[in-house]
Amino acid sequence: MKVTVVGAGAVGASCAEYIAIKNFASEVVLVDIKENFAEGKAMDLMQTASLNFFDTKITGTTGDYSKTAGSNVAVITSGIPRKPGMTREELIGINAGIVKSVAEQLVAHSPDVILIIVSNPMDTMTYLSYKTLGLPKNRIIGMGGALDSARFKYRLAEAMNCPASDVDGMVIGGHSDVGMIPLTRLATRNSVRVSEFLSEEKLKEVLEATKVGGATLTKMLGTSAWYAPGAAVSSLVHSIVCDQHKMFPCSAFLEGEYGLSNLCIGVPVLLGANGIEKIVEIDLDNSEKERLAISAQGVMKTNDLLLEIGALA
Ligand SMILES: NC(=O)c1ccc[n+]([C@@H]2O[C@H](COP(=O)([O-])OP(=O)(O)OC[C@H]3O[C@@H](n4cnc5c(N)ncnc54)[C@H](O)[C@@H]3O)[C@@H](O)[C@H]2O)c1
Repeated sequence: MKVTVVGAGAVGASCAEYIAIKNFASEVVLVDIKENFAEGKAMDLMQTASLNFFDTKITGTTGDYSKTAGSNVAVITSGIPRKPGMTREELIGINAGIVKSVAEQLVAHSPDVILIIVSNPMDTMTYLSYKTLGLPKNRIIGMGGALDSARFKYRLAEAMNCPASDVDGMVIGGHSDVGMIPLTRLATRNSVRVSEFLSEEKLKEVLEATKVGGATLTKMLGTSAWYAPGAAVSSLVHSIVCDQHKMFPCSAFLEGEYGLSNLCIGVPVLLGANGIEKIVEIDLDNSEKERLAISAQGVMKTNDLLLEIGALA
């Protein structure tokens, strides 16, 4: 199984590293536009192979997409990350052009590829890819909810003073500070509702900390985070490459599911060899439905900017 990761920066390299360490892919190709950067990252990572006991072959290329030919899965992380104080939406002007041209080159060399979009604003970049590439909707997946859910579980575990492995929870909706919907009502600790352990006030604090999870780290690091994003992408790739049918909230193109159409937004999906095998429709209560509708309006507003900047005709 061959996986391409475009953008050998913080998130792309972290993603390649986790894929290699999990040892499920035969080959990872890193692509970057910066001369020799992907080659250097690939060499550095390959020098960890005997230390981390993996057999995945990692190579790098400066923009030569012929090296990506025959990829089963390709991850797009190329583009600029946000700086402290910026919203993800502010990146659209630069990242739309990058994502569009990268995606076209990937598909030209790997017509059967399954794409995972990471570059921000992620829901809109996923929508742009769906609208411009002509691929079936099951082969275009946006990564955001898996990361946001991991951050949600971290915050819940912190609040309950327990390991994150004790906790289950999911974040749906748009991948933005205002659009995220951590499903506190459905979150559990070993199948017991978290509301048995945490007060309403504490749960509200967890919800708010989850929503600004990315911004908090961007402020601390001076750029956006990479370990958890890289790990989250590698889990999606793993589920596809090994046909695991694991459930993750991912940005998917909706045609009536959850009462929404013509946008990509985070909903629970099953990921397997065909990409999105199924969109899972869970029973949301009225408040959650309302928040999802508002979140969708926000994503659609950002999608409209694609017309303004000429990325979509
Ligand atoms: N969806 C998510 O959950 C999530 C999480 C974290 C970061 N992100 C986003 O991922 C993107 C990457 O973040 P990062 O921290 O890795 O940034 P980074 O600057 O470290 O890396 C980006 C890389 O993309 C490369 N690049 C730029 N244009 C390119 C092109 N046309 N072709 C190939 N490579 C190109 C750059 O040279 C750079 O090495 C950002 O848009 C960021 O906002 C998304």
